[in-house]
Amino acid sequence: MEYLTFALAKGRLADKTMQLLNKIGISCDEMKEDSRKLIFTNEDLKLRFFLSKANDVPTYVEYGAADIGVIGKDTLLEEKRNLYEVLDLGFGKCRFAVAGKPEIRDKLNKSNDLRVATKYPNIAKEYFYKKKRQTVEIIKLNGSVELGPIVGIADVIVDIVETGSTLKANGLEVLEEICPVSARVAVNRVSMKIKHERIMEIVEKLKNLRGEN
Ligand code: PRP
Repeated sequence: MEYLTFALAKGRLADKTMQLLNKIGISCDEMKEDSRKLIFTNEDLKLRFFLSKANDVPTYVEYGAADIGVIGKDTLLEEKRNLYEVLDLGFGKCRFAVAGKPEIRDKLNKSNDLRVATKYPNIAKEYFYKKKRQTVEIIKLNGSVELGPIVGIADVIVDIVETGSTLKANGLEVLEEICPVSARVAVNRVSMKIKHERIMEIVEKLKNLRGEN
C-alpha cells in the first residue's frame, strides 16, 4: 500500500491535530520523541507526517508532496492554492479583522492613502481593493503587526484576533470584521481521486468526532 501523507503546521496546530487523529486511531510514536526530525512514519498504518511552516502546508498539498494538510483558514485564504478544502475541524477559532487606534475610525472609510500593516497581504488586498474598493498601501510585516500603528508606520492592521488581548494590551481595537477563521482539512486534487476511500474514511471519522465535541 502507498503511504498516505499528512502535512501539518509545526506547533500548536500540529499538536492539536495529532490529538484529534489519536482519537480516530491514527498515531505516530516516532513523533512523540523529542527531536528535530521533520518527517515521521507509521509503517503499520502506512502513514507519513511532515511538519512544516504553516504557510508551506498548502504548497505541499497542492504539489502532491502531501495528500492531506491541516491548516488554518487564514493560511488557506492567504496562499490561494489549488486544493480541496473538505472539512472545518472547528478548533483554532478566531477571526480576521481590521484593527487600529480608536481615533483612526473616521479616516478608515474616507482615506485613500491609508497604510495597512499585515502578515497577510493577499487577504488585506482582497478586502480593501475588491470588497471595499479602496486604495490603500499594504505593508508586509512578519509578526507582531500590532507594532505598526503604535510606531506609526501604519494606520491600521489586518490580522487574526482570538481573545483580543494583544490588541487591548497595545491600545488598539477591532474596527471592522473581515471573516471567521478555524482549522481546516485540505486535500490534494489528484489524491482525492486515487486515494479517495482512504481519505474520506479519515475525513468522515473526523467529522463525527467534531459532532461529539
Ligand atoms: C497572533 C495574531 C495576534 C494574536 C491574536 O499572533 O497575529 O498578534 O495572535 O491573539 P489574541 O487576540 O488572543 O491576543 P501570534 O501569537 O501568532 O504571533 P505573531 O504576532 O508573532 O505572528
